[in-house]
Amino acid sequence: MISLTEVRKEYPGGVVALDGVSLEIGGGELVAIVGPSGSGKSTMLNMLGTLDRPTSGGVRIAGYDTARLSDAQLSALRARRIGFVFQQFHLSPGVSALENVADGLLYCGRRPAERRRRATAALERVGLGHRVRHRPSELSGGERQRVALARAVVGDPPLLLADEPTGSLDSAAGAGVMDLLLDLHAAGTTVVLITHDREIAERLPRRVHMRDGRMVQDSAAPPLAAVNARRALAGDRGGSTAIANERQAP
Ligand SMILES: Nc1ncnc2c1ncn2[C@@H]1O[C@H](COP(=O)(O)OP(=O)(O)OP(=O)(O)O)[C@@H](O)[C@H]1O
Ligand SMILES: [Mg+2]
Repeated sequence: MISLTEVRKEYPGGVVALDGVSLEIGGGELVAIVGPSGSGKSTMLNMLGTLDRPTSGGVRIAGYDTARLSDAQLSALRARRIGFVFQQFHLSPGVSALENVADGLLYCGRRPAERRRRATAALERVGLGHRVRHRPSELSGGERQRVALARAVVGDPPLLLADEPTGSLDSAAGAGVMDLLLDLHAAGTTVVLITHDREIAERLPRRVHMRDGRMVQDSAAPPLAAVNARRALAGDRGGSTAIANERQAP
């Protein structure tokens, strides 16, 4: 579903936030990204979500080599396939929770009434059915986080990327959000989440540890030799069919 190959990200000013990260995540996986503050977790999630392009290295999402896609094609790929929960929520301040969530469907070709119906259902799912008319400034931090989660899942994306989705929640609300993520995973969604919460990370089937822009441990990493052997057996897949597919709009 996703692969990063030797991804390096250097921000202007010279910070190397990712320093040669290679990672494969299969469809339907549930992966925790853990590591100290500043280790490159959010930067990596931005790469997985095609929100930012790497300085060097490759990012493939659902078979598409993202380097070959225009910004417009990447936006289309994101709108159809990827739900995000950002560390800073990124909600629109001037409109209600309902409209914030419904806006998650703007690029999916749904009619306004259908968008509102689905947005209401998504808010109910995160326990905010009684707050649909509230603006972000009229919600608690944890409630805003749940609005952001509702917006991320309202379009049923096959891939959900969540940056600290339980970061500002108490343990009960955090457990509710985790249950929702586990339900989505059980229903087939690929979920990648960043968490500082050790208990949460330990309950998840796969953990990727970051430090200083490098992946220092991957609990599910197959031995490199096996990966190389599989690649050799598969032959060079960069042939004409793959490239032809990539040229189509996502
Ligand atoms: N836009 C930017 N410009 C310059 N440097 C940046 C930018 N964004 C992040 N960095 C730097 O890149 C490094 C990695 O940042 P990143 O946000 O990926 O860390 P993180 O692991 O998500 O940390 P946290 O747990 O605190 O959220 C940090 O040293 C940070 O200061
Ligand atoms: Mg971060």
